[in-house]
Amino acid sequence: MIHKNEEDRLRAIIWREGALEVLDQRLLPNEVCYRRLSTSAEVVRSIRNMVVRGAPAIGITAAYGVVLAAESRYSETPDRWRNLIDEDIEMLAKSRPTAINLHWALQRMKKVIAVPTSTVGRLLKEAIAIHNEDIISNKCMGRLGAALLGQRSAVLTHCNAGALATGGYGTALGVIRAGYASGLIEQVYVSETRPWLQGARLTLWELVQYGIPVKLLVDAAAGALMRMNMIRWVIVGADRIAANGDVANKIGTYQLAVAARYHDVGFMVVAPTSTFDMHSKAGANIPIEQRSRDELFTIGCQIIAEAGAWNPCFDVTPAELISVLVTEQGAVSEPNAEKIALLMSEKNPY
Ligand code: MRU
Repeated sequence: MIHKNEEDRLRAIIWREGALEVLDQRLLPNEVCYRRLSTSAEVVRSIRNMVVRGAPAIGITAAYGVVLAAESRYSETPDRWRNLIDEDIEMLAKSRPTAINLHWALQRMKKVIAVPTSTVGRLLKEAIAIHNEDIISNKCMGRLGAALLGQRSAVLTHCNAGALATGGYGTALGVIRAGYASGLIEQVYVSETRPWLQGARLTLWELVQYGIPVKLLVDAAAGALMRMNMIRWVIVGADRIAANGDVANKIGTYQLAVAARYHDVGFMVVAPTSTFDMHSKAGANIPIEQRSRDELFTIGCQIIAEAGAWNPCFDVTPAELISVLVTEQGAVSEPNAEKIALLMSEKNPY
């Protein structure tokens, strides 16, 4: 069990002695195994194969990947490393398509590279800053989101938007942690999140460690849970938020939002502003990752069928189904294009 003063102990990403250590999330909860990555190609593979997953965690990992690439390019060709590193950054950018935090973090690293006097040490500082800022944002969103929960109740979360998916603390799970600490959450329900089971394997593992009461349900049970009046909020994270407030998140989020609206359950999305893509006008512009059919046809070691499959990894929830969008810059209720533009502007009133 993680005690209050140790709440930050769970880290999926650690920079240690010149290399990146990432917690292999494919093995959880059975095995806690950190993999040491010392090249940017290893970082690309770790993101692609979901050793590291979750939008903010992918961005942070990629930023450290740029540091590893710079070290290697500089030691091989000190006078041309700034040009040669573009190729590595491109590979990192292609590692997964939907989480915009990846591109956001790479842009920040590119800006540092563009300064003629910058060094590998300066790049490491930037990656550490991206990592630390994410944790600060999560704690801020935790406070803001918890303040909106209203009367003590139960909530449902989907996938994993916790410490494992971020620099630490979590986005949706950050709100749940803060809400539980302030007595506003009495019970958390977690949907399994087929096929990769982020809910069953990762969110359950986290919540048990924090000592928060948690019950698992199959994805298909969420509608019945709402119909029986057992929750007041659905709280989820996001992989990319379009300029009009549409949200791409783990497959199954959309149907939760539809069911939540029908049953008058609040639908809260929690994500830092690094998850906003102001170049995507609406959700239809967001690229949705399709993953292998094998993820659907294998349960444990058993192959259940041989057939075609449709396996989108994410879906888009239209802004009109979202009760409130919580960011580190403020909470926006019933988001739309005008409100998002204001949130992201210097005049942000939220
Ligand atoms: O495929 P994954 O596990 O990377 O998908 C993760 C999600 O969909 C999360 O909900 C999202 O990235 C937010 S994590 C704070």
